[in-house]
Amino acid sequence: MSEFEPNSWTIRRPGAAVELVLSQEEVLTAEFGPSVVAGWSLDTSKIEPDDEVPEEIVKRARVIVIEVRPDRPASLARLVRLHVENPSVAVIAAVRNPTVPTMQALLRAGIKDVIALPLVRNDLETVLERMREEIERGLAQATPTGKVVSIIKSVGGVGATALLTQAAALYAQREADRGFKVCLFDLDLQGGNAATHLGISPNLTVSELLDAGKRLDPAVLASVAAEHESGLRVVAAPADLMPTDTVGVDQICDIIHLATAEYRTVFLDLPSDWTNWSLSLVAQSDVVFLIVELSIASLRQAQRQLALLVKLGVAADKIQVVVNRVEKKLFQQINLKDASETIGRQIGLSVTNDFSLMNTALNRGVMIGDIKSKSAVSRDLNKLLDAIDMLLERG
Ligand SMILES: Nc1ncnc2c1ncn2[C@@H]1O[C@H](COP(=O)(O)OP(=O)(O)O)[C@@H](O)[C@H]1O
Ligand SMILES: [Mg+2]
Repeated sequence: MSEFEPNSWTIRRPGAAVELVLSQEEVLTAEFGPSVVAGWSLDTSKIEPDDEVPEEIVKRARVIVIEVRPDRPASLARLVRLHVENPSVAVIAAVRNPTVPTMQALLRAGIKDVIALPLVRNDLETVLERMREEIERGLAQATPTGKVVSIIKSVGGVGATALLTQAAALYAQREADRGFKVCLFDLDLQGGNAATHLGISPNLTVSELLDAGKRLDPAVLASVAAEHESGLRVVAAPADLMPTDTVGVDQICDIIHLATAEYRTVFLDLPSDWTNWSLSLVAQSDVVFLIVELSIASLRQAQRQLALLVKLGVAADKIQVVVNRVEKKLFQQINLKDASETIGRQIGLSVTNDFSLMNTALNRGVMIGDIKSKSAVSRDLNKLLDAIDMLLERG
């Protein structure tokens, strides 16, 4: 995955009521910690002080904490406009070393709450606590019950899709016995092959959902989600290559939001390059599996991915590292213990290397249990499913 440094970005979180709008500099110096403050989750957007705040952010906000730079008049004008045009949104000015004239200008504009930059968690907590009632009023909307499990990879080719398709199909069988449905979204818009690996070729794909816009509803979703023999619903990647950066964050978050109302578990296969929307989806996920291999390049890249996600406020304990293609040899160049040391966290999950079994399954589009009833890979996959149950507090 490449470095992620576009001009502006937003990390969306489920049911977030508080929107943080900060410049690059303030994002970097803020002390975010976990993405939930005073019981509410926050969306974070990196937007420069002279730039407008996109309408979709304003639309969903209950509270906006927005940076004001005394040396940039446009930033004060932006704040005032926001406040005047959106009476139902509480606007909090975030200012570095506020001077008396700045404070006076804010008060004249009707801004009652000011918070000091660099942003410190405690200050934010205090301000939000004061607004508790106001925020809670906006959170009364129904919240879906389904959980999101994302699969990301250190580098392409580590077997993320292979593990995901097999695990999701097995998990769908497990969930069917409990009376629930599972759906897999192949959001690898440029190289997605999850449907092929499951031996199905749906006519409709995720691009129909992206095109649906306002028509998006449970019926449209159901028509696109093809049913695999395991019971797993599969939303396939587009048939034609699709530029990943043309997808809007809200557009895709709305689709996944709808899916969590329809299915108890939603698996996401994500592209290997970070985009605005893929980071938001990871931030919204309940569990994130980071698939790695026992190579220096893969582990090094995994370490970078983890650092980026944690820096962006994704809770570290949601991310589970899975080592794929582990050789059961006594003397390995790199073993699981070396791997945990390299990436600086414990690795509880691994999957045995078995190229002929895995490749036969994927090429034929069948589940590995149909090829070989007992295998080390099946056993490992079942441990992965147990981990999902444990992390989602099910079973
Ligand atoms: N446990 C495994 N043992 C052996 N080969 C594997 C294993 N998991 C995946 N592979 C192989 O790795 C290759 C790449 O897998 P794929 O899932 O497409 O990668 P990714 O989605 O991470 O880019 C496939 O040929 C697949 O058969
Ligand atoms: Mg893949």
